[in-house]
Amino acid sequence: MCGIVGYIGKNNALPKLIKGLKRLEYRGYDSAGIAYFKNKEIILKKSVGRIANLEEKINLQDESFIGIGHTRWATHGKVVEENSHPHQVGNITLVHNGIIENYLPLKKELQEKGYSFKSETDTEVACAYLDYLLEKNKKMPFTEILKQAANTFIGSFAFVILVKGIDNQLFVLKRESPLVIGIGNKEFYVASDFQAYLEETKEYFILEDNDICQIENNALHLYREGKEIPYKTNILEDNISSPSLNNNKHYMLKEIKEQSVLISKWNKIYLEKGKELPDITKYKRIDIIACGTAYHAGLIGKYLIEKNTDFEVNVYVASEYRYQKVHLNKESLVIAISQSGETADTLSCVKLAKKNNAKTLGIINVYNSSIARICDEVIYTNAGIEVSVASTKAYTSQIYILSLLAQEFSQQKIDKNTYTTLPQKVEKLIEKDYTKIGRQLITKKDVFFLGRRIDYISMLEGSLKLKEITYIHSEAFPAGELKHGPISLIEEKTPVISLITDKTTALKTISNIKEVKARGAYVILIIKEGIVPTLDKTIYDEIITLPPSDDYTMPIISIIPLQLIAYYTALLKGVDIDKPRNLAKSVTVE
Ligand code: AGP
Ligand code: GLU
Repeated sequence: MCGIVGYIGKNNALPKLIKGLKRLEYRGYDSAGIAYFKNKEIILKKSVGRIANLEEKINLQDESFIGIGHTRWATHGKVVEENSHPHQVGNITLVHNGIIENYLPLKKELQEKGYSFKSETDTEVACAYLDYLLEKNKKMPFTEILKQAANTFIGSFAFVILVKGIDNQLFVLKRESPLVIGIGNKEFYVASDFQAYLEETKEYFILEDNDICQIENNALHLYREGKEIPYKTNILEDNISSPSLNNNKHYMLKEIKEQSVLISKWNKIYLEKGKELPDITKYKRIDIIACGTAYHAGLIGKYLIEKNTDFEVNVYVASEYRYQKVHLNKESLVIAISQSGETADTLSCVKLAKKNNAKTLGIINVYNSSIARICDEVIYTNAGIEVSVASTKAYTSQIYILSLLAQEFSQQKIDKNTYTTLPQKVEKLIEKDYTKIGRQLITKKDVFFLGRRIDYISMLEGSLKLKEITYIHSEAFPAGELKHGPISLIEEKTPVISLITDKTTALKTISNIKEVKARGAYVILIIKEGIVPTLDKTIYDEIITLPPSDDYTMPIISIIPLQLIAYYTALLKGVDIDKPRNLAKSVTVE
């Protein structure tokens, strides 16, 4: 969600800004823009759509040593050029990620003072407010003005700012929305995450809430709680490099395929080298909080922990949990699951947990991300950089970790053999052809996913994948729930995808499939080999058989065909698979 970049140094800022924005494209955006100083004037270029559209507007002959850039994911106001960033009011030009919640009263106040607005955004109001403070306090250092503004702004923000009249400096202010500073040779990079400038520098530091920076090309001043403090840099590990497609058409396909190799890698870490996981058995209460795909992984975690224990685990959608009554104390554990480690809702739940004296454990993919930094303990999922907006390998990595935690919780002896044979089973499923199923789905308006117990959870994830990248409406139902309402939606040839890996309910689900088949549904059955003694061939139109595995590893196997069905359907539809419309990889606003 929204990418911010900034550059100040001895090189031309323009190519640096464009490159940085392109490297943040994976986060999801709808428009882009840059601003830079040229002969003490600020040049502003913006465009709706892809960065390529913006590039066409930029005069690449221009040279500038200081500039800012933005990819917008609209929160306030339509996707039109007027609303895209950078915004400019008076002497202030800025880019913003986040939401200024009190922008309406501020807008009114500023209108009364004579300001008028060109856009519908909260950002332009923040920009005007800074201009107003600057006009009122001409002699005040701009960092002081930022401090004053931070006291007024309510909400989340990362700002990178150019000030007309101070053409050799870049200013930064942030709260909640992430921002990192990369340090080059007599040059500084500002970005929403370090992927923007991985090739330029591995030395960086992460800003904390309410930090203010004043950056010149050979010096950076960091102000925290009103005082200038020295900044400490970190060096990113050498093996972190920019992701590449490796001959795949899309990152999503590449990431789906990577899963078998990754499972072998995780087996090495946890089963061969015996890396220990934190002890989660000492708590009286465990709440798991997450969003989207990570939430589904949380539900699988609950299922697996509860399976062989008397312990009850609670799983909540983070955007709800943050506003509900919580029942936490120092004997509680809150587990936050997040690929990006930046999801605003999940982050706020971790803060809430800490406030209520609970211990916090992050199951996180992105090293040193905001959630990882504030959790008491972190398990990194080691899935590597995930570029595709639709999460695949991060999900399996989360389930892998949760399956180990669940077995340790119930003092089960981990069956290493099951894990060792897993990569091969996953590989075989990846190699199958899913285009025939895709062809059945592309023309349909609704697709239904059925399953019971753990299979229902996998179907929630399968359904999310399909709707995210194909824009076909889909819903997952517990198979037994259908007759309580949703079955009215089944028409001739409505696709119903059904998953059966749970032995205790296999025959029940088969009966439910018969109910939809009798009403004309086109049934795609995904079934664990040998789960029922004889399978009635008339109940399905397509079948995918899954190799058997134990309950802990089965959800890793069953999600593979669901990911690939979504992928191949989207491929046949010809949509932008890695960057589906309206979605963002890193959801840094509420
Ligand atoms: C997954 O395909 C989604 N794009 C989305 O649901 C995602 O899982 C969710 O936004 C949570 O993200 P996180 O794991 O980075 O916290
Ligand atoms: N709230 C701002 C807007 O709608 C910023 C959105 C973003 O983070 O991209 O323009």
